[in-house]
Amino acid sequence: MSAARAADSGPDRATISRLDADALSVAYGDTEVVHHLSLRVPDAQVTAIVGANASGKSTLLRALARLLRPTSGVVLLDGADIHRVPTRQVATKVGILPQSPQAPDGLTVEDLVARGRYAHQGWLRQWSKADEAAVEAALAATRMEELAVRTVDSLSGGQRQRAWIAMVLAQQSEILLLDEPTTYLDMAHQTEVLDLLADLNEQTGRTVVLVLHDLNQACRYAHHLLALREGVIVAEGPPGQIVDEAMVKEVFGLDCLIIPDPVTGTPLCVPASRRSRPAVTEGLSAEGPRRPRAGEQPSP
Ligand SMILES: Nc1ncnc2c1ncn2[C@@H]1O[C@H](COP(=O)(O)OP(=O)(O)OP(=O)(O)O)[C@@H](O)[C@H]1O
Ligand SMILES: [Mg+2]
Repeated sequence: MSAARAADSGPDRATISRLDADALSVAYGDTEVVHHLSLRVPDAQVTAIVGANASGKSTLLRALARLLRPTSGVVLLDGADIHRVPTRQVATKVGILPQSPQAPDGLTVEDLVARGRYAHQGWLRQWSKADEAAVEAALAATRMEELAVRTVDSLSGGQRQRAWIAMVLAQQSEILLLDEPTTYLDMAHQTEVLDLLADLNEQTGRTVVLVLHDLNQACRYAHHLLALREGVIVAEGPPGQIVDEAMVKEVFGLDCLIIPDPVTGTPLCVPASRRSRPAVTEGLSAEGPRRPRAGEQPSP
């Protein structure tokens, strides 16, 4: 999709869900970090999970992908407890890119991407033409063809991130969960990756769930936003309906102005800062930054 698509999405889009959490709690040892949380991931939409550091975003995403077992409650995939669904079936339905994934030493990019196909191969693990085509398409979509023979550990952080995204794409799962897929990427590559995921959603109806640190990107790309604070959902819905100054304050503890994104019209959060507060409060309005008048010195 173009980034602008999120702006015109409304609550009337499909509300069917194949992936749900019901009263989900997740703990590490005795410390519970996700508390009795219920959600529906809207089918064929892009959902973004936002929240401060340590608010439980990755924990929630990993629980949704069956990588963590809940202490209570349940994750439902197509109505069944995900822990009772055979691994191969989960893998064809749900693909996850974890935060900071690690590849074994010496693994090449094409071997990494090929691992995305494991769930599709038969018991004898024959490599098929469909597998080959999926790997090639994933490498092309992430512009990794020329780096395919390099080892993952020899790549830059951004190239490595794209290699992992290629692996998840090659899996061709119906639901894609990605934890901060834009980490390490420069602005152009961030936009490219998010546009790619949005295109996948739009062209193939793939359900996409993203953990994103950048609230403005989340507002641009997501139809549905989930805001977490200390392991509970404090706001959810279309960005245009739920993102305001009070919400940002509650979720991130940050003072800001919300103005329309000049490119997409979606909410744009302009943070206040202890050092720039006068400029923010005096110079910015919903119409955008005030330009100095003729003859006026710009503020330092
Ligand atoms: N493997 C683990 N063992 C123990 N505690 C953990 C583990 N993983 C995460 N935690 C703790 O659980 C809480 C939630 O962590 P989580 O990684 O889900 O947060 P997050 O919202 O993804 O944060 P970030 O934005 O920094 O990625 C944090 O307090 C974290 O220290
Ligand atoms: Mg995280």
